Amino acid sequence: MKERIEELLKQVKTLEASNHEELEALRIKYLSKKGEISALFNDFRNVANEEKKEIGKLLNELKNAAQDRINEIRAGFEAKESKGDSLDLTRTADSIALGTRHPISLVRNEIIDIFSHLGFTVADGPEVEDDWHVFGALNFPPEHPARDMQDTFFVEKNPDVLLRTHTSSVQSRVMERTQPPIRVLCPGRVYRNEAISARAHCFFHQVEGLYIDKNVSFADLKQALLYFAKEMFGPETKIRLRPSYFPFTEPSAEMDISCNLCGGKGCSFCKHTGWVEILGCGMVDPNVLEANGIDSKVYSGYAFGMGVERITNLKYQVKDLRMFSENDIRFLRQFENA
Ligand code: DAH
Repeated sequence: MKERIEELLKQVKTLEASNHEELEALRIKYLSKKGEISALFNDFRNVANEEKKEIGKLLNELKNAAQDRINEIRAGFEAKESKGDSLDLTRTADSIALGTRHPISLVRNEIIDIFSHLGFTVADGPEVEDDWHVFGALNFPPEHPARDMQDTFFVEKNPDVLLRTHTSSVQSRVMERTQPPIRVLCPGRVYRNEAISARAHCFFHQVEGLYIDKNVSFADLKQALLYFAKEMFGPETKIRLRPSYFPFTEPSAEMDISCNLCGGKGCSFCKHTGWVEILGCGMVDPNVLEANGIDSKVYSGYAFGMGVERITNLKYQVKDLRMFSENDIRFLRQFENA
């Protein structure tokens, strides 16, 4: 038996195979249950007791040597394959997970699309602004509370460099470089010094609209907003305008739409009123036109501003504003097909 083991030991150390099939045949020959080494293990019973220790050790050595050599040959095959020496062109490609558009972007794009049918184009402006474009040019009196440290983030203690608190700042940027007719939409991010909660955040998104031409009236404003509401929330949607105040518009209004969850019947979302507020609007104050170099005796205009998060909440019932900036992939994936 000892000789047989030693002979096999020599054999297994020099095994060779040129492909996986040959290698498998070797494995079966030596290591399978019916293989040569297993047969020797079976015969081990008959070995005389005083030889058992030595033979047992040799047998284990043989088994390990066979296993090692087979592993070594297999590793050689695998290394070659991964180097591309053998390329499987029929293998299916790994699937590529596509990203999704953020719900805020989806809704912003939809707002832009709806107003583009009315001839509005997109205008851009900086997020880091100066006091003039955010407040001064928009008829905010110097003592207006919105300029207060409560609401505005200032950059480096310089009261003239701040993060814009609304996209109305782009109105003044557009007016100072363009004469009417002006018909622009200004989407963008705005910042306010608010404690972060489910209902408030220190940054959010707005879309501002501005239309200036000869003979622009409040009726034009109402018609444009009604068209927007029906396109955005469905043809059954009703609007109502409530008088309000903004420094940059006169008269000013806030617009409600009939609650799109209960159809106006009253539910907890609309606090049982049947209406939800979605934007502020009004006729551009003549002071604003003049401050930005537009003749208020020749031209008039309307403006409106809405929060994109608010519209998104209404469309998709997102209950917590923080969801929009936490980048939870489970939340974002829900908008894959939107
Ligand atoms: N800028 C206002 C805000 O941030 C929104 C707004 C109200 C914009 C009325 C307008 C407007 O253009 O006419 O709350």
